[in-house]
Amino acid sequence: MAKAKTAYVCAACGAHSVKWAGQCPDCSAWNTLAQTRIAAARPVRESATAASSLAALPDDLERRHATGFAEFDRVLGGGLVPGAVVLLGGDPGVGKSTLLQQVSASLATEQTVFYATGEESLRQIGQRSQRLGLAAAELRLIADTSLENVLEQANSCAARVLIIDSIQTMTSSELPSAPGSVVQLRECVGRIVQYAKQNEVAVFIIGHVTKDGAIAGPRVVEHMVDTVLYFESDPASRYTLIRSVKNRFGASGEMGVFAMTETGFRQVRNPSAIFLSRDSVAEPGSIVSVAWEGSRSLLVEIQALVADGNTSYPKRLATGIDQNRLSLMLAILQRHGDLALGPEDVFVNVVGGLRISETAVDLPALLAIVSSFRNKPCLERMVCFGEVGLAGEIRPVRFGEERIAAAAKQGFVHALVPQGNVPRKKLQGIQVTGVKRVSDAIDAAF
Ligand code: TYD
Ligand code: MG
Repeated sequence: MAKAKTAYVCAACGAHSVKWAGQCPDCSAWNTLAQTRIAAARPVRESATAASSLAALPDDLERRHATGFAEFDRVLGGGLVPGAVVLLGGDPGVGKSTLLQQVSASLATEQTVFYATGEESLRQIGQRSQRLGLAAAELRLIADTSLENVLEQANSCAARVLIIDSIQTMTSSELPSAPGSVVQLRECVGRIVQYAKQNEVAVFIIGHVTKDGAIAGPRVVEHMVDTVLYFESDPASRYTLIRSVKNRFGASGEMGVFAMTETGFRQVRNPSAIFLSRDSVAEPGSIVSVAWEGSRSLLVEIQALVADGNTSYPKRLATGIDQNRLSLMLAILQRHGDLALGPEDVFVNVVGGLRISETAVDLPALLAIVSSFRNKPCLERMVCFGEVGLAGEIRPVRFGEERIAAAAKQGFVHALVPQGNVPRKKLQGIQVTGVKRVSDAIDAAF
């Protein structure tokens, strides 16, 4: 039998270290490493599983259930798959319980849904249901923190969908460690996954993203589940985004858009232009780009501000794009754009609290900086996208034509894009300018 080993495990990201350290070497969180017993592989199996043939599997393998929100179905990969284990992470208060209560009520019209809460009382759940106008929903509820009891109760009412709110409050009585510890979290999720697969029950596991090392976060169990979704919400924005970072039943990187209202979440079906202000006129330091999120386009405004810093340590601050890409753009501007920013502070921001991780926003970020520095607006009704290489070359990005078409649909009349993304056929209503070098792009943008 394998022996149990110990390691230092980070409660925020789950990284293992052999030695203790004050800061996690992986995610840089402080005071999150704790000595943890790594369970040895379970030596005994209660019942051996028999092999079966692929051809003998049932034909309704693609069966999925609609959740009542097309935007949520989208991030799940086209609806809820029976037996799938979905981890739903997010900051406390972002709306995880609210959304899942709405989804439960919708799923409960077709199948038995079991909602287990370890956070709130049944009264609180009832009050929220009333606010959401879902008080009549056929929902089975339990307020309990014992995982064994929750699974037993779910089993006894033959639930097809189970909601665990939240995993950090659940404990397995077989383990002595405290609720919320890495060991408890892994053990509980392990049991839930086993239960889900054996009984073909779909499970949503809510996990709070924690900043404090005392409670382990959902990242610690990401590898154990089928689908991982994260809520993102900027306090200044009306919108809440849900992104899939892993999905065994569909594409990852999908994004669903919701707005929180008095009566719960409302989905935003065509989010293409929601982050743009309606009557935008070209202003210095501002440029519109077309990002690609999951399987659709999203128009975003990128702003830059170049200001006299008057300090020996000028600030370079990126919000919504990668800080390193900003440094890179400034170096490229200096070498290939004839623009050396020395003592000036440079700020770049994506409007609406969005985070864009693709390189297609390189060129617009760079042009926004030039525009702010010159205090001169770019062309009216222009969009721009493209990756910028270290040699000052502009590289094509994926879905170029789709991005241009999306911009044309929103009334933009110019598109400044990498030469490699210029469509062969002329597009209606929008003039496309292809560029190969940073210097050409700067000439064409003003
Ligand atoms: P909640 O779902 O409890 O968050 P989580 O489970 O992620 O911790 O939602 C908390 C916030 O949502 C709370 O600040 C109130 C707000 N809210 C609304 O704005 N409208 C509503 O209809 C509901 C139920 C909540
Ligand atoms: Mg909650």
